[in-house]
Amino acid sequence: MSTKAGTQPLDVHRIRTDFPILQRTVRDGKPLVYLDSAATSQKPASVIEALAGFYRTSNANIHRGIYELSEEASILYEEARAKVARFIGASRPDEVVFVRNTTEAINLVARTWGVANLQAGDVVVTTILEHHSNIVPWHQLAAERGIVVHFVDIDETGRLRLDQLETLLRTQPVKLVAVTHVSNALGTINPVSDIARRAHEAGALVLVDGAQSVPHLPVDVRALGADFLAFSGHKMLGPFGIGVLWARYELLASLPPFLGGGGMIRTVTTEGFTPGDIPARFEAGTPSVADAVALGAAVDYLEAIGMAAIRQHEVTLLAYALPRLEEIPGIRLYGPVGEDRAGVISFTFGDVHPHDVAAVLDLHGIAVRAGHHCTQPLMRRLGVVATTRASFYLYNWEADIDRLVEALQEARRVLDVAG
Ligand SMILES: Cc1ncc(COP(=O)(O)O)c(C=O)c1O
Repeated sequence: MSTKAGTQPLDVHRIRTDFPILQRTVRDGKPLVYLDSAATSQKPASVIEALAGFYRTSNANIHRGIYELSEEASILYEEARAKVARFIGASRPDEVVFVRNTTEAINLVARTWGVANLQAGDVVVTTILEHHSNIVPWHQLAAERGIVVHFVDIDETGRLRLDQLETLLRTQPVKLVAVTHVSNALGTINPVSDIARRAHEAGALVLVDGAQSVPHLPVDVRALGADFLAFSGHKMLGPFGIGVLWARYELLASLPPFLGGGGMIRTVTTEGFTPGDIPARFEAGTPSVADAVALGAAVDYLEAIGMAAIRQHEVTLLAYALPRLEEIPGIRLYGPVGEDRAGVISFTFGDVHPHDVAAVLDLHGIAVRAGHHCTQPLMRRLGVVATTRASFYLYNWEADIDRLVEALQEARRVLDVAG
């Protein structure tokens, strides 16, 4: 492992040796500069080994076998749940429901809590910053049940208009505030504990989309004050196919099941069924056991480095990157400047389409994302069709920013960007 827990600077040189993919080259021998961790993170060898190791030595279906391998697999799966619970400050492991990803976690809330509690005319407040996965499930309930979805706007700096939230909470029958902790497109870190306090005062529950926060900042569900927290393993050094819904135990226990099938029942008869306990009630079918175990290894890795140190590292990278990018003629940066900014930089470059910018960067071995980032309402609000986005993680360093800046300077000449 690379550095001790705490806020001392990360030993990025050492960390990078833990990530096999960072040793490879792309586009005819260029060293890979990976600046797309907001889409998915790279994986350290310990996570890859935990995944392969499970299949190599412990593979069996869980919870049903009365033989050693199955018992071992079940223990590993439940240990992973306990690790994730501790990582986010949950009061007990069974507050952690394993799902496939953030999207499934939010849909689970919509399909269980939403269907049980929302009537025509009830209001769900979300924000213009949201990823589609925190918009479409509410639109679906609007179409099916007549709920009303309101969007809190942003100001010119990319921060949420809390005055609008306050007005909605005072004047509308708001039942849920569904808000992202960190914007995947602008990097805005929303004041979610303040939002949760306001929502609770108005009698609404709070769902926090933690897809971009849990991997990058210390997140403690008790301090957050949220009722639901959704996040994805693949953005926090874990494998694809595993994500988490956290909720307070009593709240989970009050919800009807999500998908029906094996694993989620107590009894089944020809007349009907009784749902199983928490969290099995929400984990119908064979879960992604190996992926959960590897997520546990990802949590071990993050904890050994320390989330405060990871956050500090990204703050340092941002402080290095923003002024350098700003100096490039023709570039326009989006998102707030300040402490409430995560390691995500969206920009446009003259009138060149972001896809063309990303394509030129790719020729230099630099992986960035270009497009609407699954935030079409936000893009419309900003008056752009798309942006190019560079996003950081613990394995990025200043040399990556230097390569980005150099490549953009060259792109400026190739693409003839007016400054
Ligand atoms: C803020 C945010 N929410 C939700 C998601 C959806 O995550 P997933 O595709 O893992 O379900 C993403 C993915 O980029 C995201 O950035």
